[in-house]
Amino acid sequence: MMNKNSEAILNFENKEIALPVICGSEGEKALDISTLRKSTGLVTLDQGFANTASCCSQITYIDGEKGILRYRGIPIAELAAKVSFVDVAYLLVHGTLPTEKERMDFSSLLNYNSLLHEDMRHFFDHFPKGAHPMHILSTMVNAMAAFYPTVDVTATARNIEHSCARVISIVRTIAAFAYKKSIGEPIVYPRHDLSYCANFLNMMFDSPVKPYHISPEAVRLLNVLFIIHADHEQNCSTTAVRAIGSAQVNLYSTIAAGVSALSGPLHGGANQAVIEQLRMIMADGDVDKFIRKAKDKNDSFRLMGFGHRVYKTYDPRAEIVRKECEKYLKETGINDPLLDIAHKIEEIAREDSYFVERGLYPNVDFYTGILYRAMGIPENMFTVMFALARLPGWVAHWREMIGDSTKIVRPRQIYTGRTPSEVGSEIENFSPPSLLI
Ligand code: ACO
Repeated sequence: MMNKNSEAILNFENKEIALPVICGSEGEKALDISTLRKSTGLVTLDQGFANTASCCSQITYIDGEKGILRYRGIPIAELAAKVSFVDVAYLLVHGTLPTEKERMDFSSLLNYNSLLHEDMRHFFDHFPKGAHPMHILSTMVNAMAAFYPTVDVTATARNIEHSCARVISIVRTIAAFAYKKSIGEPIVYPRHDLSYCANFLNMMFDSPVKPYHISPEAVRLLNVLFIIHADHEQNCSTTAVRAIGSAQVNLYSTIAAGVSALSGPLHGGANQAVIEQLRMIMADGDVDKFIRKAKDKNDSFRLMGFGHRVYKTYDPRAEIVRKECEKYLKETGINDPLLDIAHKIEEIAREDSYFVERGLYPNVDFYTGILYRAMGIPENMFTVMFALARLPGWVAHWREMIGDSTKIVRPRQIYTGRTPSEVGSEIENFSPPSLLI
């Protein structure tokens, strides 16, 4: 229960315990239970942290019921329509959109830090053929800790500024190098005269025998896709970044943890899984069968790109991607049959009580894969694209966390294992081996 002077009263074992209620700037309320264990011996249990605010943050606001997403107070649709990814990166990391001078300085910093240490380039020669680019990316980002000055909570403001720009800029170079290696082509170095997204596309697709024409439509689209993925408050990978960073781990290793978390199919890996699933459904030809499978409790099949922990209505990012998808495919004259399958699934799901009652709508990943395919990005690079976009978000959360001097992340648990009485005389009766093995 909650009373007017912003306290909630917990009644436990005939004792009333007052718990302060914290109120966020958009009016969301939270019980502060930080003294609960001390005063009552109780801890809270919340698997998957579905009902737990792990921190206070000023970066991103989401209202999952209303389908609202804002970075630093600015709605996602306005950012996607009006500004560049670099501006959004600045906004997330620094708190406001940049002035002309701040934009120039930030862009110079990104350019200055875009080259990968030349000795790291040789690492690419030793990954096995077929290694997933997300595994290469997390390994390479972690290795940056060995090549660049340590940057952790104790670093100077200048070192932090440079290192944040370096990691945002270099992941783009690593991602493109990994792709070029995987197809056996010479790598293409970053260029100072190109914008962030144009630079990435050029490193991906330019070749000594066939210069890449940088299409303004592709650059615009990539900006939009990167912007809508740039942050999403305390999702799994950002929580990983905050948790690992709270142990005062080096920035690069911290970001590598975020990359690893993102690679899972229930998180960033979903964009690749969506395309694989759409292709499977198209080959089978029976969309209804897969809708039935998704609804069947005895079947582990899930519609990839559907559902979200926070959004119980249409994901505002999915709305943007769906429109961009139609626009770009029309502009480029590409006819992708997977888009027709995706539309059909969405149409059925929108009318079906299973999906409606559970608030299952397309999430950001449902249409992004189709767009990346249209841009010529290979499927195993889809999740890497997500990681490049999410970099500013991870960096912003890391900076916010080290500035807040928070405690090391160390949750409690409820032990459900054997008690000594259940173990009985197991240890007394145990015969040790004659040799220690
Ligand atoms: N297909 C079919 N049923 C689903 C789906 C789906 N994609 N997603 C959720 N459900 C059902 C569950 O079976 C459950 O049903 P029940 O209440 O009858 O048991 C109910 O909806 C709630 O599902 P949960 O798994 O409890 O929801 P949760 O918030 O834990 O999971 C998640 C969210 C992981 C995104 C889930 O919806 C999912 O697995 N989706 C597919 C993977 C995907 O697209 N991931 C990308 C997410 S976006 C991102 O990371 C950027």
